[in-house]
Amino acid sequence: MAIEFSERIARIPVYPAAGGYAERAPRVKLASNESPWPPLPAVIDAIHAALPSLNRYPDPTNSLLRERLTERYGVPVSRIAIGNGSCDILLAAGEALLEPGAELVYAWPSFSVYPHLSAASGARAVTVPLDADARHDLPAMLREITAATRIAIVCNPNNPTSTALPLPDIADFIAQVPDHVCVIVDEAYCEFNLIEDPDSSIELLEHHPNLVLLRTFSKVYGLCGLRVGFALCGSDALPRAVDQVRQPFFCNAVAQTAAVEALAHQDAVTERVTRTVAERISVDERLRALGLEPADSQANFCWFSLGESDPELTGAKEAEVMRGLAERGVLVRGGGALGQKGALRVTYGTPEENAIFLDALAESL
Ligand SMILES: Cc1ncc(COP(=O)(O)O)c(C=O)c1O
Repeated sequence: MAIEFSERIARIPVYPAAGGYAERAPRVKLASNESPWPPLPAVIDAIHAALPSLNRYPDPTNSLLRERLTERYGVPVSRIAIGNGSCDILLAAGEALLEPGAELVYAWPSFSVYPHLSAASGARAVTVPLDADARHDLPAMLREITAATRIAIVCNPNNPTSTALPLPDIADFIAQVPDHVCVIVDEAYCEFNLIEDPDSSIELLEHHPNLVLLRTFSKVYGLCGLRVGFALCGSDALPRAVDQVRQPFFCNAVAQTAAVEALAHQDAVTERVTRTVAERISVDERLRALGLEPADSQANFCWFSLGESDPELTGAKEAEVMRGLAERGVLVRGGGALGQKGALRVTYGTPEENAIFLDALAESL
């Protein structure tokens, strides 16, 4: 007889992980919005220095990291949650806030982990289509908020479409959301957003105890392999609740040490953003020269439709181009797995990687 699993296991979608992890290493990996550059030498030194103490459990309160985040952002330690990646905080927030009968509102296509929150809890997911420019339609999202809504998520810049909304639009949205709803603004890519100062949203926390800004060391800091993220919150309620539903040692010692060190090198962050934005401009220009129309990216990746208008053929076109790229050693994400068939999401890599991708794309189209 087979093992009998809970009902929710049948509901939870399997995360659409990028291929290529187990296979022969691709030449160019542009599928997971990672940093193409390794952790900084000072961060690697800090990691080495942490290794001899690994016979001890990590600090379960993540105190040094939270103190450093307080120094940097001015948000009190009690209003900062740490996670084993920001996904960990997201899933824990779902566990803490959702249950059957509750509702969760988010845009679609957006980050592929959001559907897990409703599936895992039995809450109802209300998805709101993006507008014609692949941006969140905040007025439409507002109309979906009811007495049953517990979480509203705004992903800014949005994964997978790369677009961002101006902060005043988001501030207006938050001001109109009732206080019982936890508003999570997922800012995993905020450092790459040139529309705003990445830190301007922090001021909103002073006016909205129900606001959570979700951030990560996985992207611009280049530490996704270690798994560490954080949430800056408008009150201490969410940090307390997410700690209640998780195991005590959710953030490992090496990750804590590396994040503390990485935070001290903001010049390097600025320099990496500058390099990424230069690649963003040049890759998008080449895409347009190929007749494609990339969305207005404010992130470290681009998003474009392959231009097939026949709905029957969009998936086939995506598969064909993905295959062409894979044969040339280039790994990207197809839109089908991310909510929109016939599109591609491609991380900006180094100039050399981008040149290989663009040549492979031109040959595959
Ligand atoms: C929008 C968004 N939020 C959160 C994450 C999670 O990042 P991590 O769990 O590595 O912090 C990602 C990762 O791709 C993302 O795209």
